[in-house]
Parts: sequence; C-alpha cells; structure tokens
Amino acid sequence: MNSPTKSPTQRPGPKPERWGTRVGLVLAVAGNAVGLGNFLRFPAQAAQNGGGAFLIPYLISFLLMGLPLLWVEWAIGRHGGQYGHHASPGMFARMGRGSWLKYVGVFGLFTNLTVAAYYCYIESWTLAYVWHSLIGTFTHTPATTFFPEYLGTTNPSITAVPYEAACWFVGTLALNTWILSRGLVKGIELAAKIGMPMLLLFGVVLAINGLTLGPGDPGVVESPLVGLNFVWMPQTSGLWNPSTWLAAAGQVFFTLSVGMGSIHCYAAYLRERDDIALNATTAGAVNEFVEVVLGSAILIPIATAYLGLNLVQAATAGGSGFDLAFLTLPTLFNQWGAFGPIACAMWFGLLFFAGITSSLAMGQPVVAFLQDEFKARRGAAAGVFGLSTLVLGMMCVILYPGGTFDEFDFWTGTFSLIIFAFAEVIIFGWIFGIEKGWAEINRGADLKLPGFFKYVIKYVTPTFIGVVLLGALIKPSGGWGDALSALLHTGRWPFAPGSVIGKVFHVGETQSWFDPAGQVTRVFVEDLTRVVLITVFVLIALLVRKAWAGKSITHDQQEGPRL
Ligand code: ALA
Repeated sequence: MNSPTKSPTQRPGPKPERWGTRVGLVLAVAGNAVGLGNFLRFPAQAAQNGGGAFLIPYLISFLLMGLPLLWVEWAIGRHGGQYGHHASPGMFARMGRGSWLKYVGVFGLFTNLTVAAYYCYIESWTLAYVWHSLIGTFTHTPATTFFPEYLGTTNPSITAVPYEAACWFVGTLALNTWILSRGLVKGIELAAKIGMPMLLLFGVVLAINGLTLGPGDPGVVESPLVGLNFVWMPQTSGLWNPSTWLAAAGQVFFTLSVGMGSIHCYAAYLRERDDIALNATTAGAVNEFVEVVLGSAILIPIATAYLGLNLVQAATAGGSGFDLAFLTLPTLFNQWGAFGPIACAMWFGLLFFAGITSSLAMGQPVVAFLQDEFKARRGAAAGVFGLSTLVLGMMCVILYPGGTFDEFDFWTGTFSLIIFAFAEVIIFGWIFGIEKGWAEINRGADLKLPGFFKYVIKYVTPTFIGVVLLGALIKPSGGWGDALSALLHTGRWPFAPGSVIGKVFHVGETQSWFDPAGQVTRVFVEDLTRVVLITVFVLIALLVRKAWAGKSITHDQQEGPRL
C-alpha cells in the first residue's frame, strides 16, 4: 500500500469538490445515517424484540461493531479520496496490491443503487402522505383503505400498475436527481442544512404532543409513557437470545448506513488531514440520539395511547413499522382536532426529510464513480443514477404485491450490508494493516480514541460480524435451543423462512412458479427479482473492469495521490 505522498507525475486536474463547512459535513453525514430506519424500523424492531430487552444488545452492537465500522469507513473513504477516488471500487483498489480488491468495492455501488431503488419508493409514500394529510384525505378515508389501494395490493393481479404511487415515485426520483446534479455543497449539503433542522423540529413537536396525551383526551386508553417505558427500560433477558442479537445488529447496520459505501463516499471529499475520529463519532452519536430518543418517542407512545401496548406489538409484526406508520397513525391523528392534518403532515414530512437526506447519500457514490472513472459530467452522472433507480424501483412499485420490494429489502438492505462490512473490516485490519489503519483513523483527529479500539477493529468487530453473518445464514424457525435439540434428534436444522438459507430455498412457500390457473406466483417474482439483482451486480463489476482496463495496476499504484 502506498502512503499518500506527492508524486512527481502529478498533473493539475479540475479543482476537487469539497464540503463547504464542518457543520454542513456533519449534518450531511448525520442525515445519511438518520433515515426511515430511525423512525420506522427501530421502534418496530424494538417492539418485536421485547422492547427494553432489545436495547442492551443494540447498544453493545453499536459499540463493538457500529462505531468501529464508522471509523473504518471514514478512514477508507478519506484515504481513497486522496487518490481521486470517491466511490468504493477505487478506494479498495488502494487498500493493497491485489487487483481483486476493486471488485469488493462493487458492493459499495450495488448496495447503494439497489437500496436507493426501494428506499426512494418508501420516501415517495411519505411525500404522497404529506399531500393527502394536507388535503384532508385521512379525515374521511381511513388509511387502512387508502394505503392498500395506493400500493395496488387490493388488485387481484400481482403485476398491475399502481398509477398514483408510480407518479409520486417518479417525482421523488426527479427531486433526488436534481439535488445530486447540483453537487456537494449546493445540493447535498444544502438539503441536509434544511432537512435536518426541519426533521428535528417536527419530531420534537410530535413527541411533546404525543407524550403529553392523558386519560382525559378523547380516544386515549393508556398512557403514552407505557409505550416509551417499554422501549426504554433495559432488560437483560435479550442478552441470552441470539435472535435479539441478530435483530439488534441488523438495525445497527441499517441505521448507521454502514456496509453500504455511502459513508466512504462522503469521507472521500475530506482533505488528507481533516479530522475523521470526531466527525464520525459525532455523526454516529447524533444518529443514536435521534433513533433512541426521538425515534422511540413518537410512533410507539402515540400508538400505545390510542391502541394499548398489546395491539401496538401486534401491529409491528414484520419489524418494518410500515403498518403503524402508514395505516394506523394517520387515523389516530384525527383525534387531535384541527391540528390533526397538520400533525399528520409533520409526521410524514419528518419521514420525508429523514429519507431524502439518506437517499442522496446512496446516489452520490454512483455519481462519483461515473465522474471519477468515466469522466462523466455531474448532471449526466446524476441522470444515470436517476434512470437506473427508476428502472429498478419500478420493479418494486409494480411487483410490490408479488414480493419484489421485500426481496430488495432482504438481499440488498440487509444481507449485502453484512457481507460488505465483513469484507471491509478484514481488508482494513489485515490487508491494509491495522497499524496503518489506526494511523489513518487518527491522522488529524480532534478526538483521542481509546487505543483498545485498535484491537477491537482487528479482532472483535470481524468476529462479531462473522457471527452475525452465520446467524443470518442459519437462523432457525422457533428458538435456537429447540433447533439444536431438533438437530441432535433428527439430524435436521429447521431453517427459518427469514434466514438466508431459508430464503434461498423458499422455505415455507409454495415451490411452484405458476399457480393452477397459470398465473405467476410470488416465488416466480422472487426468483425473477434475484436474477435482476445478480445481473445488476455483474454489470457493475463489468463497469469496474472496464474502468480499470486502461490502467496498469503497477502504474496506478505508483502514481500516488492526485489531490
Ligand atoms: N441509515 C438510513 C436509515 O436509517 C438508511 O434509514
């Protein structure tokens, strides 16, 4: 690995893009992390995994896995940026001598592009809901009627086009593309400077209104504090349940946006000696504050106040929080009188700002890759991102009832993150080398990190992620103890339908592509989606190959940093 020293062969190029201000950088990075996961996924995962019992595995996963991964990704990103690479293939090519390293970086483009496709679809629901809240749709139509029609799940055909949803999706993508085309400072940074304060403002207003609901208020059946207490009261019982650990670790990945390639990209726009230790820690801490404090203080307490805790837990089955957020809450806000539609618009506005500051971070690595490696203009690169996301996302829109959306969420928004994070932490600690890596993290640092994290990064984090990966592969249906005893007695392991192996083999599903009437089944749509995702991965790998075809590795590695 070359140390970033000036090269005599260096030629002046276009002025590199940089972040405008440190506040803008921290807001953009925090905006990347703070997303739909904080307000929908976290409360639902917590509710599904025993409330406070989820909290301790979650916090331990954050300390031993999330935080070290944040530092590692910032370090890989800033290091790659010194060589003019703002997307992961180029950054990984700079981590060692193996020409295969750049292909590890394919994950950083694949994950961002494919997650953006379904993530922007959810983002577009929030925008549509802001509109429908403001025009009073939910005062006369229950969201339980509105949402299935909007998604097209009431249509008997699993391939019918939900036109309204498609239009909002196209509009959302156009907005993302336009912001990306404006560049780092006038686009992403400005969006974060507007979006993050609005999100916090809306969140605080909703939390105060929700938490002060009392027994005298119309419709209230339980104190909202019961809901808050349920999530916040730490219990040690979750420590002994591997499924709780899996859920907690999965949430840490998603909420911090680690294992995606987007943090690397944002960090690549830093200068060689710009701090990363404090910036990364601050962005992680802001995300945790927004998730654990604000994310717990809205959805669950308000729903608990009107439905009671048992119903709330039942409504979070699946762990996405969609039912509570999109089906239940809009109707509950009607209890808030004239403020109801405004509160509803604030709730979905909050989700929209949370979503767009994250989806922009998914778009920028793709834009940067095309700019760096194919010398594309920014507007054209943003257009390619918009169009690719449109094509992939339209699959999620049209085939939502058939399961495409869930497939994207599982393979790209869950599994791919773990694989990429596992690979990167091993490359960082063992190929790049932990001594160089630790020096990279601490160069220009405004915060002295405890030295024992060097060993955590080298040994503990990879082991932790490896165990999470294994757990995700073989997660059993039912308890782990029961599964072990089934293995001992019958020689068979009962893979859960939601485990990786269970998914691959469609455990618990019909095994046929067509039903007796000749219509395609959900399994067909799932397999089709997998073929598309694999094709996307291969196409990106081919693009990376093409980008490097003209570069001799030896020359490339001797060239030294360009910036
Ligand atoms: N970190 C982003 C979220 O939580 C992706 O939604």
